[in-house]
Amino acid sequence: MGEGNHFNVVGIGVGPSNLSLASLLHAYPEVSNRFVEKRPQFGWHDGQQVPGATLQVSMLKDLVTLSDPTNAFSFLSYLHDHGKLYHFINAQFDAVPRQEFRNYMEWVSRRNQNIVFGQEVLSVDFRDVFEIRTTAGTLTADNVVVGVGNEPWVPPHARDALGDSQFHISEFANRCVDLGGKRVAVIGGGQSGAEAFLDLISRTGAALPRRVSWISRRGNFFPIDDSPFTNDYYMPSFSDYFFSLSRPVRESHTARHILTSDGISGSTLREIYQRAYVHRFVHGATDLFALYPNREVTQVTAANGDGWDLTLAHNDIEDMVEHVEADVIVWATGFRPARMDFLAPIAHRLEREGDEYKVDENFAVVWDGPPDRSIFAQNAARQQRGLADPNLSLTAWRAQRIVDRLRGVRTENQTASFIEWSAKRPAELKTTPGR
Ligand SMILES: Cc1cc2nc3c(=O)[nH]c(=O)nc-3n(C[C@H](O)[C@H](O)[C@H](O)COP(=O)(O)OP(=O)(O)OC[C@H]3O[C@@H](n4cnc5c(N)ncnc54)[C@H](O)[C@@H]3O)c2cc1C
Ligand SMILES: NC(=O)c1ccc[n+]([C@@H]2O[C@H](COP(=O)([O-])OP(=O)(O)OC[C@H]3O[C@@H](n4cnc5c(N)ncnc54)[C@H](OP(=O)(O)O)[C@@H]3O)[C@@H](O)[C@H]2O)c1
Repeated sequence: MGEGNHFNVVGIGVGPSNLSLASLLHAYPEVSNRFVEKRPQFGWHDGQQVPGATLQVSMLKDLVTLSDPTNAFSFLSYLHDHGKLYHFINAQFDAVPRQEFRNYMEWVSRRNQNIVFGQEVLSVDFRDVFEIRTTAGTLTADNVVVGVGNEPWVPPHARDALGDSQFHISEFANRCVDLGGKRVAVIGGGQSGAEAFLDLISRTGAALPRRVSWISRRGNFFPIDDSPFTNDYYMPSFSDYFFSLSRPVRESHTARHILTSDGISGSTLREIYQRAYVHRFVHGATDLFALYPNREVTQVTAANGDGWDLTLAHNDIEDMVEHVEADVIVWATGFRPARMDFLAPIAHRLEREGDEYKVDENFAVVWDGPPDRSIFAQNAARQQRGLADPNLSLTAWRAQRIVDRLRGVRTENQTASFIEWSAKRPAELKTTPGR
């Protein structure tokens, strides 16, 4: 345990990233730690708990299993603890319900006495040790791990009008109610937009909107690429390879392969298409939905009558402007890394790379402080570590790297990809068996 308010490690934010770290550290009481979360209790995109939503990755990509399969905080331990392992198997889920995975993580957070909720970190300063000022007082630490995730993003032109009839998808569960008979526009062609559109056109009776328009800047409603070799991008070995590349090469890779993380699940697309078929051809509801991919919403103004007038620019046809009217607008336009204003007192000492703090191979921010004092950044280095950084795939591995660095050990026994990512020098090629 820490002495008073001093700890070896203080974690800022308790989403999956830092919850994974807290879970792995639990086995090492000699590394005293405290994790501070501003929410009053655990939450995981709760505003987007749309009925039927599922996890987009294997259940083995839980908080601990991929680096410590016998850890007591695994998803299987959770099922076992609740006496539902057999039922889970019998249910034959194609994918874990998102609410169930959220409940698992909440269970983990409740079993770890090192986690505190309802305390926001306001500032981090450094004088021999880190001084972390929170809404509940001040902690000191030898190391800090920032895990504040992503925050909702809407285009700048939309920000002033946000409220009851225009809101970000992260508020969907609370705000997308009583939409029966109304015109709704969903903007954004990622998984969030797809889930919102599907939910809206699946409502029945008086709860069904009059019209649901789905607008996306992407050329079509594209699927996620979840195939075997593509998934090798979501392995530790690729993360390390990506980290070794030059910045322009990394940027190009991310742009070309964005749909491996941000495309829409095939099952969601099938459900949407089938629901659309039934509405249009079985029930004759020809006007219920409208699909507008390949368009950007460039402006929203108050309509002449009620509601909003959306201006759409077509990506392929220059000077082509279209208009869509809606009573309610759901902005499913994505997320951006959360601001870290609390680092302001030491920000000038931290090296940057583009929009991010520059991290080393152990996810420690490069800075001018003592080498035995580190600020780690989880889910804040997508430009340096690749598309897997905000994803759950490498959460347990990344956290283990940090644990190892804190303990001064190297436990990693990385399984190589089938793919030779890096070029080999001629001498190495000759000695490689089978070449
Ligand atoms: C709807 C949705 C579903 C998703 N599903 C999947 C999926 O199935 N598979 C997948 O791989 N990825 C998924 N993702 C991606 C998602 O980014 C990760 O699953 C995950 O949430 C990242 O965890 P994190 O801990 O880094 O960040 P977050 O989950 O954003 O958690 C950060 C935490 O930090 C807290 N915080 C922020 N500032 C402070 C402060 N100053 N003081 C204290 N606390 C603070 C926040 O309140 C928050 O709880 C999904 C994303 C969304 C939006
Ligand atoms: N069930 C799940 O597991 C689940 C659910 C939701 C989200 N997620 C994950 O969370 C992450 C974020 O997903 P997301 O869907 O919220 O965001 P996203 O994938 O970033 O999608 C945002 C979409 O909005 C579009 N857009 C932005 N501004 C626009 C404008 N002015 N007009 C028209 N379109 C505009 C973007 O177009 P461009 O592509 O051209 O920029 C993009 O298509 C993804 O990794 C996703 O897989 C997972």
